[in-house]
Amino acid sequence: MSSSVRSSPIRRLAEWDTARLDELASTHDTPLYVTDLERVRENYERMSGAFPDASVMYAAKANTAKAVLQTLAEAGAGIECASAGEVERALSAGCAPEKVQYTAVNPPEEDLDYAVSVSTEHPELTITAGAEDTISRLTERDFFGRLCLRVNPGVGAGHHEKVSTGANAKFGVPIDRAPSLLAEADEAGFEVVGIHAHAGSGIRGEDLSAHRELVSRMGDLAREVDVDLEFVDIGGGFGVPYRSEEESLDLTAVAETTREALGECEGTLVVEPGRYLVADAGVLLTRVNTVKPIGEERVVGVDAGMTTLARPALYDAYHEIRSVVSADRPDATATVAGPICESGDVFGTYELPAPERGDLLAVGNAGAYGYEMASQYNSRPRPATVVIDGERSAVDRRRETLGDMTRLEQEVAWL
Ligand code: LLP
Repeated sequence: MSSSVRSSPIRRLAEWDTARLDELASTHDTPLYVTDLERVRENYERMSGAFPDASVMYAAKANTAKAVLQTLAEAGAGIECASAGEVERALSAGCAPEKVQYTAVNPPEEDLDYAVSVSTEHPELTITAGAEDTISRLTERDFFGRLCLRVNPGVGAGHHEKVSTGANAKFGVPIDRAPSLLAEADEAGFEVVGIHAHAGSGIRGEDLSAHRELVSRMGDLAREVDVDLEFVDIGGGFGVPYRSEEESLDLTAVAETTREALGECEGTLVVEPGRYLVADAGVLLTRVNTVKPIGEERVVGVDAGMTTLARPALYDAYHEIRSVVSADRPDATATVAGPICESGDVFGTYELPAPERGDLLAVGNAGAYGYEMASQYNSRPRPATVVIDGERSAVDRRRETLGDMTRLEQEVAWL
C-alpha cells in the first residue's frame, strides 16, 4: 500500500495553510476557488486502494476543471460524463476513449449525435442508456457500439431528496425489465458491455444499508442476464463529512460490504465517485464587505453567494466556514450572507472571530459541485479558480468580467 493510500480520509478546513490562502486571495482577488491537485491525487489513490480490482470512473459533474480531469486521467481514472460537453472535456483532458463513459439521462438530440459521432472515431466509448427510448434513438442513428444499461434498482439514498436517484423513475429502466432489454439489445447487434445503477449522492451512515441493497440487487441482475458483461457499475455517491465533528467514511469497510453484497459475478466492478475525489481538495475564499450588528448577533455580508456556491441555497447544505485572520478576537455569532437579492442567499450561522470588513473567510469542502454549479444570476460574474500543486499555483479559469455578462447578446434582428 503506497503512503498516499494511507492519507487521511478527509482534509479538514483547519488543515489548510492560512498564510497561503491569504496570499492567494491577495494576488487573485475574491471570491476565489482554490483546488489542490495533490489532494485530488491522494483521494484517488485512497479510492483505488480500497477498491483494488475495481475500475474507478470519476463523475466529472462534480468538478470539470481541465486540470482536475487531467490529474485524475493521469492517475489512472476513467471519466463518467453526464453530457456531450463533459465527454468533450474528458477527451480534451487526455482521457483515453476506452475510459470514457457517457451516461445519457433524457439526452437531448445533440448529445446523442455528438456521442455517436465520437464513437465512430473512437468505438471504445461506452454509452449508457437509461430508457428503452434511448436505445431506439441510438438504433435510429445506426449506433450498435458499446452499450451499458442503466437500471432503476428501486432503492435510493443521498444527503437530500433532490440528489437521491436510485428509486426515482426518471433514472434507469425498471430492474425487472433489464434482462429482456439486454437480450434484445444483444440480438439487435449492440455490443452490450455493462449494467449500471446509482443510488444517490452523499451516502453516509444509515444510507449505507441502501447502498448495500442496491449492490446486492445489481449482483443478482448480473447473474440473471444472458449476455456476457464486461462490468457492473454501481455508481458513485460516497459521502464526505461537511461538519468538523462528523466522521469520514470508512472506505475499506464500504469496499468490503460492496464486495460481499455483490457476490460472485462476471465482470469488473465499476465505481463512479465524484464528490469523494474533489470535495476536500477545494476551498472557496470570500471577503467580508459588510458587517451589520443586530442585537447580540450580526449579519456578515461577503462577496460570494448562492451564485458562487449554490449548495446551501439549493439543498440546505452545510459548509464549514473559518476566518483566515491572525488577529486574536473573541468569537461572535455571525450569519454569513451573500450579495444576491434573495433571502435564500445565506451560507448559515457560525461562531467566528468577530468579523470585520475586509476579513478573509474560507469555505470548506467546496471542491465538489461548487464552481460547477455557479451561475451569473443577478448578473454576477463567476469567480476565478486557482489550482495549487505542491509549491506551485496558477489560475486555471480567469474571473469573469462585467463584459462577459453580455457576451452572448446581440441586437435583435427581427425577421
Ligand atoms: N454517477 C452518476 C450516474 C451520478 O448521477 C452521480 C451524481 C455520480 C456518479 C457522482 O455522485 P457523487 O459521488 O459525487 O456523490 N449537486 C449535488 C450532487 C448531485 C449528484 C448528481 N449525480 C450536490 O451538490 O450535492
